[in-house]
Amino acid sequence: MKQRFKLGVVFLCLLGCTGDELASSIEVDLQLPEHFPVPWVPSENHLTAQSVELGRYLFYDTRLSGNGTVSCSSCHKQEFAFADDRPRSLGATEESGTLNAPALTNVIYLRPLTWAHDTITSIEDQLLGPMFGESPVEMGMTGATQRILDRLTSDTLYQQLFEEAFPAAPIRLKLVRYSLASFVRSLVSYRAPFDAFIAGDRDAISIQARRGSELFYSSKLGCGGCHAGFAFTTAAVSAATGDNQSSPFHNIGLYNIDGAGSYPDTARGLIEESGVARDMGRFRVPSLRNVALTAPYGHDGSVPTLEDFIAIYEAGGRHIESGPFAGDGRESRWRSTDLKDFSLADDERIDLIAFLESLSDVAITTDQNHSNPWRF
Ligand code: HEC
Ligand code: HEC
Repeated sequence: MKQRFKLGVVFLCLLGCTGDELASSIEVDLQLPEHFPVPWVPSENHLTAQSVELGRYLFYDTRLSGNGTVSCSSCHKQEFAFADDRPRSLGATEESGTLNAPALTNVIYLRPLTWAHDTITSIEDQLLGPMFGESPVEMGMTGATQRILDRLTSDTLYQQLFEEAFPAAPIRLKLVRYSLASFVRSLVSYRAPFDAFIAGDRDAISIQARRGSELFYSSKLGCGGCHAGFAFTTAAVSAATGDNQSSPFHNIGLYNIDGAGSYPDTARGLIEESGVARDMGRFRVPSLRNVALTAPYGHDGSVPTLEDFIAIYEAGGRHIESGPFAGDGRESRWRSTDLKDFSLADDERIDLIAFLESLSDVAITTDQNHSNPWRF
């Protein structure tokens, strides 16, 4: 499969496009395989090769943080499919966050964005979080915007990159956000062995992984109900489907601190935004593409391995015996009723993990199109 972006001009407005919301403008050939739908891209921020390239320089540039210590890539590391291997990332002030930095592959398809906000629907808006967020501080840009823009404006390389991406427009924060969003959109991941299997190469994955995929989609385990479709999450949309119809937020019983279903105050899920009791502990279903590359797991990175995660599903929730978060998640009143009760034989567990491993697109972890341009 070709790995380079090809510059071409493709304007797409599929059936049902009405107004800005559903219009889609993609000016790079994303080389999508047949089982990937055409993604939705906001009409005000065309996906161009030049904006992706500018975004790549910015993504890896620590000058983008207030104190010059952190870049997007500090938490989203290419070697881990743009996730973080720390349970919770450190921001510009060395303050630890409360959530695990997710992989950034196939974010072009995700809506809503982040672990537990159902109102953040564009990457452009989501980026205000890491740039300006104060609890926790990530990039620490609050109060430093002009200083950061001055840094970029005085660099002749950026003058050129901005001019190519946004001709005759002054360098401003909106364009920084737009090009970063475009770079993130370009991180489409479709080169896993399982993709080759779907495309017809039966030997692309092992016999264990094939048995594991049958388990995954079986009614006994029901994993495919939430980790659905080509992106392995119900939080994926495309240009054709538009907005999500069903809620992609679920509580899987990781905590039950007070016996009433509570999660730690630092990360309580959708309830923080909605204020509705039943949203306690509900987090967005993560994509399982590249999951074997993105340990540790769960919204707060509190589950070290895939084996541990599957054991939690098998037990019907996580039982924490001691410490401040002690409680039996198996008894949680908020645990999703869409989760099945099941147990696995040892070889079935191995099969299921082999399947999850077959979702790893190792090529993306070294793809030069996405890597740090400042190294060369
Ligand atoms: C200090 C670590 C840190 C830095 C720096 C950081 N992020 Fe993140 N990122 C996170 C965490 C943690 C989340 C999950 C936030 C949440 O769910 O509320 C996240 C979420 C995201 C998401 C949403 C992904 C999804 O699946 O919904 C995108 C997109 C993203 N970051 C892009 C960026 C970009 C671009 C930058 C640079 C401007 C950046 N991040 C800087 C830690 C970081
Ligand atoms: C009811 C919906 C639902 C079903 C069914 C479901 N999951 Fe999940 N899964 C989720 C949600 C939500 C999360 C994130 C929960 C959190 O972090 O609090 C998750 C997280 C995961 C993770 C961790 C991913 C990461 O990046 O942190 C793995 C692995 C996983 N699920 C595998 C499975 C497997 C295997 C099955 C079938 C046995 C399954 N899931 C069934 C909703 C579901």
